[in-house]
Amino acid sequence: MQGAPKEMVMGEVYKVPTAWSRDSLCNLADYQRLYRQSLEDSDTFWREQAKTLKWDKLPTRIKNVSFVDPVSIKWFEDGELNVSVNCVDRHLKDRADQVAIIWESDDPGVDRKITYRELHEKVCRLANVLKDQGIKAGDCVTIYLPMIPEAAYAMLACARIGAMHSVVFGGFSPDSLADRIDDSGAKLVITADAGVRGGKHVPLKANADAALKRTTQQPRLLVFNHAGTAVEMVSGRDFDATDLMAEASPFCEPVAFNAEQPLFILYTSGSTGKPKGVLHTSGGYLLYASMTHRYVFDYQDGDIYWCTADVGWVTGHSYIVYGPLANGATTLMFEGIPSYPTISRFWEVIDKHKVSIFYTAPTAIRALMQQGDDPVRRTSRQSLRLLGSVGEPINPEAWRWYYRVVGDERCPIVDTWWQTETGGILITPLPGATDLKPGSATLPFFGVDPAIVDGEGRELAGVTEGNLIIRDSWPGQMRTVFGDHERFVQTYFSTFKGAYFTGDGARRDEDGYYWITGRVDDVINVSGHRLGTAEIESALVAHEAVSEAAVVGFPHDLKGQGIFCYVTLQKGIEPAEALRKELVAWVRREIGPIATPDIIQWAPSLPKTRSGKIMRRILRKIAANEFDNLGDVTTLAEPAVVEELITERRTF
Ligand code: WT7
Repeated sequence: MQGAPKEMVMGEVYKVPTAWSRDSLCNLADYQRLYRQSLEDSDTFWREQAKTLKWDKLPTRIKNVSFVDPVSIKWFEDGELNVSVNCVDRHLKDRADQVAIIWESDDPGVDRKITYRELHEKVCRLANVLKDQGIKAGDCVTIYLPMIPEAAYAMLACARIGAMHSVVFGGFSPDSLADRIDDSGAKLVITADAGVRGGKHVPLKANADAALKRTTQQPRLLVFNHAGTAVEMVSGRDFDATDLMAEASPFCEPVAFNAEQPLFILYTSGSTGKPKGVLHTSGGYLLYASMTHRYVFDYQDGDIYWCTADVGWVTGHSYIVYGPLANGATTLMFEGIPSYPTISRFWEVIDKHKVSIFYTAPTAIRALMQQGDDPVRRTSRQSLRLLGSVGEPINPEAWRWYYRVVGDERCPIVDTWWQTETGGILITPLPGATDLKPGSATLPFFGVDPAIVDGEGRELAGVTEGNLIIRDSWPGQMRTVFGDHERFVQTYFSTFKGAYFTGDGARRDEDGYYWITGRVDDVINVSGHRLGTAEIESALVAHEAVSEAAVVGFPHDLKGQGIFCYVTLQKGIEPAEALRKELVAWVRREIGPIATPDIIQWAPSLPKTRSGKIMRRILRKIAANEFDNLGDVTTLAEPAVVEELITERRTF
């Protein structure tokens, strides 16, 4: 098992404060009653919850799901709605002048506030531009934008006309972008001249140009001018998005779509092969995102809510855009980074905009914790009332610092476990209901039925540890891998028959609390970013000097996991420091900066079974500097390889 927090203190409990159990949306009694109903009478529960959305046609059929052959997942299948109406239009009656999006730019002197009225106008204009470009319901639009409000406009404009979007994180390379454009068959790409992070420009338009040189698909480009940098516009292919929006009508009549209309594809890494296009649909996803946003963050009118994720990840989709806007919330979008211009930036932004709910990742917390308490203490943070964590297990030490220093021992912390595939939060405390234990994601959300099983799929009862599965569907669950339903079935439903396999390990304590121990497959989690070891390996072997490569995660103090690459060179090529540097730069260029290897170790050969399978278990141990207990090495084709790798590992 990888990435488990070094320390799991199970005795430490932070009780729900009385005020929270009185004033929040859900106390312990509510949670227990509703949770039971959500499992025992799930149709009644979800039929009732569905009414929190605005439907053009209210669904009568609630759930139609099979986790065995043929795997099929449908929720609210005869319902009809428009997602953008739910996120925008329906708030115009009561909160047209309320701020929907606070945009805080990289430059601390620049921000923008967009009301629901303005959001409506922007979304309508952009939806009309998409229509003018020939985009129709069911088409795919790639969004490759920095953290600017235009990213939310673009997502909602697609939703308005029934097109699906595929947001590609601005940190991905031209090659990664090209793969995603081709796999999704995108008809249009929406980008900007450049993004700005920590005072530096990220050349998005130039990356998009490079990507389009190698795609089969030849989409048009809509370009927002954001950073004021000069870009080359290809005539007939590239269009200025701001100009087109200015010319377009500010009204766009919404059309109702079926609840199962695809809303978006989001690419994520798995154990094998290229990233897969996780497909989410409309009704179930939006209901689940908005409901979890409301309950988990106890979102109430007047709150200012900030999730620091990028819209390029699912956290940005569900908890910057769809969940908050469906709830008529004020959501803050931050373009910059935590350390620019100073390491107090997060806390300064909280004070500037009076943020009351703050949701970030353990990797950021650990990095800021390293800088000491002072940069935090010199800010007020009095507006804060709730803190959240997501993306990887949070080590108790970081949890306590977050609680004590950032939250002044006043703010509950919700440690939310979920995945791109789950659409929304599955295991989490509810702040008015659940006593907290640092390092535990605690208990399942409504409608979520987790279990722990052993390697053979036998369910383990009581206090135990094993593989985490979910026994039944919830509305936010992904529906398929875009264009490859068989891969969907294989990846998630073949390991444990009749259940959704999460790929995570977990233990359950005497209070029924879940403690996520990390991935049990070949996925690694670097600073909360998910990477497939197979992707990095194929990038490495694409280099002419490399004959073979094996990549594993290893414990890293700041990133959670780091990237450790064993590289075997082609015959006749000698290991050299310059080559090591070149390979690091090569992977970075092929995939993107998030995949930059931390360590490259030369491997004369790799430990393999007699049938040629690489023994990753052993490679993980060596990478972690754990040389005892390597397990059974007698099945190896050449047991001596292991000693060679250990000797080399000891040298650095
Ligand atoms: C993987 C999913 C969920 C949105 C961001 C990441 C790990 C996520 C937690 C948590 C322990 C966590 C899991 C999961 N993970 N949240 N609170 N505690 N582990 O989405 O990129 O799809 O990654 O992130 O290993 O499987 P993702």
